[in-house]
Amino acid sequence: MNVNLKIKLGRISLNNPVLVASGTFGYGEEYAQLIDLNELGGIITKAVTLKPREGNPSPRLAETPAGLLNAIGLENPGMDVFLKEKLPFLRGFQTAIIVNIAGEKEEEYLVLAERLNQARGISALEVNISCPNVKEKGLIFSTDPEQTFSLVKRLREVTDIPLIVKLTPNVTDITETAQASEEAGAEALSLINTVLGMSIDVERRKPKLGNITGGLSGPAIRPIAVRGVWQTFQKVNLPLIGMGGITNAEDALEFILAGASAVAIGTANFVDPKTALKVIEGIKQYMQVKGIKNFKDLIGWLE
Ligand SMILES: Cc1cc2nc3c(=O)[nH]c(=O)nc-3n(C[C@H](O)[C@H](O)[C@H](O)COP(=O)(O)O)c2cc1C
Repeated sequence: MNVNLKIKLGRISLNNPVLVASGTFGYGEEYAQLIDLNELGGIITKAVTLKPREGNPSPRLAETPAGLLNAIGLENPGMDVFLKEKLPFLRGFQTAIIVNIAGEKEEEYLVLAERLNQARGISALEVNISCPNVKEKGLIFSTDPEQTFSLVKRLREVTDIPLIVKLTPNVTDITETAQASEEAGAEALSLINTVLGMSIDVERRKPKLGNITGGLSGPAIRPIAVRGVWQTFQKVNLPLIGMGGITNAEDALEFILAGASAVAIGTANFVDPKTALKVIEGIKQYMQVKGIKNFKDLIGWLE
């Protein structure tokens, strides 16, 4: 049986529902030597900021049970280099290119969105308002529904590119920021970003990360992410991109049945760069076995 994996997230068309998550796939250059990027549903880039950022002091990564703690601090070459070098490379592939943007202040996001609006080949902007690893207050917009609303609304005014708002799980009720994003004109939502955590080296009596705290990702956070998707699916009408600890098709299907229209593979890319391709194949097989022709029919199909 032929199955149809195509899916639309508002105005964003995907060949299949499996993307790679921001910060775990760079700008695609290294992975292009390992897998065929054309087979992905889409690539969400590492965060792009207005100016280059060096990121946080090392160590920036620490492994924890079933998880990874990171405090990269949004290291990236900045918007000019992205537009000149990274985007032209990504444009060469037949896959959706979603650019993750981050800023320290509202104005910075607005300038980024305005400039990217003039570039060709961007399917959507993923607005990273939820990175836990940077000190500037601007990057925790997404703990506050009012700030989220204001930022998304202003972004909506300066760009025609569809906006995907990336939500943080580090709040009491994730549906509040989800609803604020919907009201402000978001096209879709990504959830979840990493969970704020900390780990200590008891021999040295020091935090394992240079930044002290960091963002936890990987299978350890999957139930938190699935719960976030399920709760949000009940409250908003926007398409959801689910992520957090997906390592195989079964993990991805948990998110889809909970209400995600697409999924993104993050930390698992570091373990096996082919994870996303295996997930696509696994979803296809599941649909064939269950006799489901259209991927759309699976979304939110929780008994
Ligand atoms: C090393 C690393 C860097 C990340 N960088 C970004 C980033 O630049 N922007 C962003 O929105 N999310 C970033 N994330 C969060 C991921 O995109 C994803 O939301 C999170 O890791 C949960 O998915 P996972 O458990 O599959 O990794 C990063 C995650 C990791 C592990």
